Amino acid sequence: MDISIKRGAPGKIKTACIVAAVYSGKSLGECAAALDRSSRGGLSRLSKRGDIRGQLAEVLMVPDASGLEADRVLLIGAGKRSGITAAEYVKLTRKAASAVVGAGLKNALTALTEVAVKGRDDSWKIQQQVLAFEAASYRFDEFKTRTKSKAARFTRLNLLLADEQESLLADEARISASLVNGLKLTKDLANTPANYCTPTHLADQAKSLGKQFKSLGVEVLTEAAMEKLGMGSLLSVSRGSEQPAKLIILKHNGGPKNAKPVVLVGKGVTFDSGGISIKPGPAMDEMKYDMCGAATVFGVLSTVAEAELPINVIGVIPATENLPDGKATKPGDIVTSMSGQTIEVLNTDAEGRLILCDALTYCERFEPDVVVDIATLTGACIIALGHTTSALMSNNDDLADDLLAAGQTSGDRAWRLPLWDEYQQLIDSPFADIANVGGRAAGSITAACFLARFTKKYRWAHLDIAGTAWRSGKPKGATGRPVSLLVQFLRSRLESRAQEG
Ligand code: BES
Ligand code: MN
Ligand code: ZN
Repeated sequence: MDISIKRGAPGKIKTACIVAAVYSGKSLGECAAALDRSSRGGLSRLSKRGDIRGQLAEVLMVPDASGLEADRVLLIGAGKRSGITAAEYVKLTRKAASAVVGAGLKNALTALTEVAVKGRDDSWKIQQQVLAFEAASYRFDEFKTRTKSKAARFTRLNLLLADEQESLLADEARISASLVNGLKLTKDLANTPANYCTPTHLADQAKSLGKQFKSLGVEVLTEAAMEKLGMGSLLSVSRGSEQPAKLIILKHNGGPKNAKPVVLVGKGVTFDSGGISIKPGPAMDEMKYDMCGAATVFGVLSTVAEAELPINVIGVIPATENLPDGKATKPGDIVTSMSGQTIEVLNTDAEGRLILCDALTYCERFEPDVVVDIATLTGACIIALGHTTSALMSNNDDLADDLLAAGQTSGDRAWRLPLWDEYQQLIDSPFADIANVGGRAAGSITAACFLARFTKKYRWAHLDIAGTAWRSGKPKGATGRPVSLLVQFLRSRLESRAQEG
């Protein structure tokens, strides 16, 4: 999806559809009123007779308004003219986007930046409009042999801005366009089935991203290299698979040389069968999504590289399959992690923490400012928070607050769970330093407690995205979360750096 900015009289702009607001009380918004004048009252006639009253998210597609260069007008109810809430605005833009995309249109011009939103600025509104159209128009049909021609896709969003809204917003549109591409990369990788999307495939993707963006450096460690580093925990997971594990490192050096990096670590289990502690059959296909943390890291790095954000970000992706085999790790086996701590593997299905712990120890070499790991780590997270909210756990309150705030702003929200010491005893082992599971109680917290034993040397946060990274049922597929949250987090850090001078 391409994004561009348009200015000037809306009646004179050529597009498949103009999206214009009508406020409650049948009151045409600024753009709708201008279109009404160009069409000699064609739109006010419709609102006067009550075809659209302006209630929030009410839609009316006007298929043929005379006097306009645009082929159609989508009038959309925008509620109170004095201002609506952020959540209402999100609802409004989503409704508009699905009406446009659902009508099979290839492009549109949206004038919804004019709608007043409490506590939000024009930049935010631009981003939300772009995200709504991205969500509505995304398709994954690479594996369908009979598919609608690509020419019939929604491919261009134009944003109508007033003349006085200057270059700041052009920059916002540019960054939003990068975010759209990042989200598409995340969703495409996540939706790709595990027989195509192997650890080697992820490594190849990283290399091609490195070729695409000159700020991106890429390194891929083989199993032999990981062996040398002593990553016995990570390698205990890949042992049951024919596919070799990879440790993928992506570095975006956009910031000052001496600025400590933000490091993002993404769980990249390209298929999680559970291993010897094998999972039940129903819905096991969804375990191709167990690399959504990795896919998120790809999406964020692609966004910051394309947008050329002046920051230093490093992505670290431990990638492996988790399968049963004669060589596979067995319940009760004890493995030695890169940190030197020994781990009793009580359940081979708790593999995410086993690969993350070695990746987290590896991060120490970057002398990070902060480390955030992203993982589809526990089914318990879905029980606790459902599919709307990611779980956040951290050893640092400021970092946790910044991530929560980024979630609020982007609408890609997280909620914090405690990580108190009292929980640590649940993963004590009689035979090794740590057990890899802690029983049914507080499953998401004990998983994070496990990781916390490997992150003592830096500020760290953990996002459990088991409930938010994909949708089951219909429509099924990757959501692209929490790419928006993390991009917002990085942008907010940039802003506060600018304010500090
Ligand atoms: N990848 C799963 C977590 C998961 C389950 C994500 C369902 C999304 C939907 C993870 O590797 C796993 O299997 N976790 C176990 C941990 C348990 C053995 C302590 C779980 O949650 O059941
Ligand atoms: Mn598992
Ligand atoms: Zn898993």
